[in-house]
Amino acid sequence: MTHKIAILGASGYTGAELVRLISQHPKIEITALSADRKAGMEMAQVFPHLRHLPLPTLCKIGEIDFSQIDLCFCALPHKTSQEVISALPKTLKIVDLSADFRLRDPAAYEKWYGNPHSALELQKEAVYGLTEFYRDDIKSARLVAGTGCNAATGLFALRPLISAGVIDLDEIILDLKCAVSGAGRSLKEGLLHAELSEGYNAYAVGGTHRHVGEFDQEFSAVAGRVVQIQFTPHLMPANRGILATAYVQGDAQVIYDTFVAAYADEPFIELLPFGEAPSTHHVRGSNFCHIGVAADRIEGRVIVIAALDNLTKGSSGQALQNANLMLGESETMGLMMAPLFP
Ligand SMILES: NC(=O)c1ccc[n+]([C@@H]2O[C@H](COP(=O)([O-])OP(=O)(O)OC[C@H]3O[C@@H](n4cnc5c(N)ncnc54)[C@H](OP(=O)(O)O)[C@@H]3O)[C@@H](O)[C@H]2O)c1
Repeated sequence: MTHKIAILGASGYTGAELVRLISQHPKIEITALSADRKAGMEMAQVFPHLRHLPLPTLCKIGEIDFSQIDLCFCALPHKTSQEVISALPKTLKIVDLSADFRLRDPAAYEKWYGNPHSALELQKEAVYGLTEFYRDDIKSARLVAGTGCNAATGLFALRPLISAGVIDLDEIILDLKCAVSGAGRSLKEGLLHAELSEGYNAYAVGGTHRHVGEFDQEFSAVAGRVVQIQFTPHLMPANRGILATAYVQGDAQVIYDTFVAAYADEPFIELLPFGEAPSTHHVRGSNFCHIGVAADRIEGRVIVIAALDNLTKGSSGQALQNANLMLGESETMGLMMAPLFP
């Protein structure tokens, strides 16, 4: 049986990445693709790299007949997403890639996103979409909230350690570099080649990045107490990829063994041999996350590094992994492609 899906926001980066991934999926058929400014255009005009695919013309959301759709991916900006999803049929399976349904506490949502949540009933039924930690809930969910791409990388590097209580919960530093496609396709001066290339900068310093809300929520939940990490993101002059370096205090071998136990059966998490460091080059275009652990020369200090592609494991690949579960298919279906290298 083939599942019919729609992608809302198909003229953006994560929407196009979903199309690329689904084009290799044996059991999913793309029935509708939406856009806003680019509605009426062919995907080949907006994304020439998808020219070979027979795809529906980009349309407005209101033109889609959702009674024909089994599952809808929403790759829209936050705030728009909750407005759009509120108007969709209440029986439709939805994977939302935006931030709108990630935070369970409406006050936390308002604090980090600056506007009150307008779909609180939907928020209550949403499941946080990091498959490796919420697999069983996702299988039976109707609405899944894909995680932030930075949040996913930090969660893979730290959540098993916090859950197992093998690191000092009050001394966690996360230094992260994110490629520019993480900011989406809309035009922003600071993302012009002349202003981004050959340079490197931190942003949202002082714990002000919105994904801190996800770290607070997820780390505190598994620790059973408030956990606050020190987090600084950096904008990397590259197109794809996230590299997160965590500085933690604990025993390096115990930390490594904790990852071995946590990720032994995970198809997309690759724990590197002890002491090896991951690279964004080795996960590009794939749904894999590489994790490395090394002991510091200072006794009791350990470095954990995680790398993933923000457009696959950090968003669209993760979304397809969740959709596979929601549709009763194998979690890895259409997602086992090797990374693109060099
Ligand atoms: N980029 C990443 O690495 C990443 C990772 C994780 C999560 N996310 C989240 O995923 C979502 C999509 O991100 P993106 O990077 O793909 O963004 P993007 O490239 O800016 O694309 C946004 C899409 O939404 C459409 N859109 C914008 N305003 C709309 C409106 N009012 N009504 C209907 N459609 C509208 C755009 O259509 P037009 O272009 O035709 O106007 C476009 O198709 C965001 O919520 C983002 O935070 C992104």
